[in-house]
Amino acid sequence: MAQTTSDHQLTTTQRGHAPAVPAGTEAPAAPTQVAPVRRPAPWDAWWPVRFYRSSIGKKWVMAVSGIVLLLYVLLHMIGNLKVYLGRNEVNHYAEWLRTMLTPALPRTVALWILRTMLITAFFGHIVSAYQLTRMNQRARPVKYQSPRDYVAANFASRTMRWTGVIVGLFVIFHLLDLTWGTANSHFVRGDVYDNLKHSFQRPVVAAAYIVANIALAIHIYHGAWSMFQSLGLNNPRFNAWRRHFATAFAVVIGVGNVSFPVMVLAGVIH
Ligand code: HEM
Repeated sequence: MAQTTSDHQLTTTQRGHAPAVPAGTEAPAAPTQVAPVRRPAPWDAWWPVRFYRSSIGKKWVMAVSGIVLLLYVLLHMIGNLKVYLGRNEVNHYAEWLRTMLTPALPRTVALWILRTMLITAFFGHIVSAYQLTRMNQRARPVKYQSPRDYVAANFASRTMRWTGVIVGLFVIFHLLDLTWGTANSHFVRGDVYDNLKHSFQRPVVAAAYIVANIALAIHIYHGAWSMFQSLGLNNPRFNAWRRHFATAFAVVIGVGNVSFPVMVLAGVIH
């Protein structure tokens, strides 16, 4: 089909040339990119939403969800210590978790309420950590030019992201191994003692548990310290106390959890 518009009919811009500027007038400014204007959503004015959008709000969500997760890992570790009392004790305890608050509530309902809180805390912690990192990156797009103060930013604080990723991947494997049983060929529902024993009798799995729980202890060491800062509780008078608290928490969880695979490998749990 014949072209209907000849070159001289096109405007200068369409031809790819800059438009001619009549003498005496200023050159027009280059077209600037205008960010699309977002219509305000009905929830924009709601204070929790506005609070969460600030970096302080995200830090609060990280700290509060972190406290829930800390409590969980502590209680979970203490509960697992029952394995040292024998098969019946730990299996009975696991059954009690499912029947908590019966007959006031149907079986496993109380457990599911706790699970829902745990899942919310888990995702709240990850999402707020990710969004806070993105926010900080946007505020400082150029990397630090000089070496950072690695005394203030110790090993634990610099590795939070990686220890967090290791723990996240561990939890997925752990559920497949000891809750759903898909990663444990000897899995028998309700027989926590034997499930745990058969799992840790595989040296590679035992090693993975040891590494993941050391990563968790390092994560807790910094997390339990910095959560006070995030909540605004950073009076210098309490700093030494905060450090002791974080160290004690990390050591108790780390030693307790690492003991299970070690004791199975050593034949103490058999
Ligand atoms: C060596 C250390 C650990 C041992 C021996 C262990 C053992 C177990 C066992 C036996 C179960 C199944 C319980 C049942 O079916 O009643 C379980 C479930 C679970 N564990 Fe662990 N655990 C360890 C560390 C951890 C850590 C560090 C986390 C989190 C960071 C964790 C998170 C969970 C979760 C979320 C469940 C599912 C609980 C549920 O809703 O039923 N565990 N663990």
